[in-house]
Amino acid sequence: MNIGFIGTGKIASSIIYGIFKSKLKITKIYISSRNRNIAKKLHLKFRKVKICNNNQDIINFSNIIILSVTPQVGLKILNHLSFNSSKTVISLISTIKLHDLKRLIGSSKVCKAIPLPFIENRLGPIIISPKNKVAKKLFSKLGSVIEINNEKTSYSFWSTSSIMAAYYEILNSTTNWLVRKKIKKKIATNYISELFLAYTQDALIKKNLGFKKLVKESQTPNGLNMQVLKELKKVKFYDKFIKSLNNVHKRIKR
Ligand SMILES: NC(=O)c1ccc[n+]([C@@H]2O[C@H](COP(=O)([O-])OP(=O)(O)OC[C@H]3O[C@@H](n4cnc5c(N)ncnc54)[C@H](OP(=O)(O)O)[C@@H]3O)[C@@H](O)[C@H]2O)c1
Repeated sequence: MNIGFIGTGKIASSIIYGIFKSKLKITKIYISSRNRNIAKKLHLKFRKVKICNNNQDIINFSNIIILSVTPQVGLKILNHLSFNSSKTVISLISTIKLHDLKRLIGSSKVCKAIPLPFIENRLGPIIISPKNKVAKKLFSKLGSVIEINNEKTSYSFWSTSSIMAAYYEILNSTTNWLVRKKIKKKIATNYISELFLAYTQDALIKKNLGFKKLVKESQTPNGLNMQVLKELKKVKFYDKFIKSLNNVHKRIKR
């Protein structure tokens, strides 16, 4: 299997690292010379990664082509490229809809996927929409695949994937708070990572309980957890959070 990436940025690089940590049988990975530094690093690290000088070569040499450019670049370059109908195209571009993609690349063997950077460590859910056997075979070795046939439904999942930076900012703020209390950065970072990992692992173990019950069970009447939750609700922290999700959703489905 030869895989080609149009656009060698953050997410393409994470997928490639994930592939080489997996048991996938890959003959070659063809990448674009953009971004130059990332492409060079990948080529030096993995001998199966080859850099192509133009996007058409990547398509010609690959069975699976992953579109990993920004929407602006995608709209500019895709209709100038020729995609043979035997190739499977997987688009990671959030805001280009399936019917526009099919029109742009002139092929219908296309699906969209939502991997996230932790795919690098073969972690996390990966949405594929619509169902696609080739994409499933690839991504099921890199994370846990969820297939969604309805594109509109996939936009809702796509919206929730946008909370990653906001989530890490909570970890960052909490760690910085500890550092201001004179705790060494390394110790604070380690403690906060372990704390949030335990929250999430515990939630996963107790997923049948439901998150609402978990929230309830995490509070002692008049205890410290109850105080923080109350204070955040009072300043409409969670309402603002949902408003941001709604705004992202509007942007994706536009
Ligand atoms: N990052 C994520 O977590 C994530 C997750 C899911 C989906 N996505 C989607 O994946 C896409 C890429 O995201 P990203 O975060 O990886 O962005 P990124 O780091 O900015 O990568 C985009 C890459 O495209 C390259 N590029 C620009 N013009 C090009 C051209 N004409 N031909 C080939 N490559 C070109 C850029 O190179 P230069 O640096 O040289 O301009 C850059 O390396 C986006 O559509 C995003 O919505 C991202």
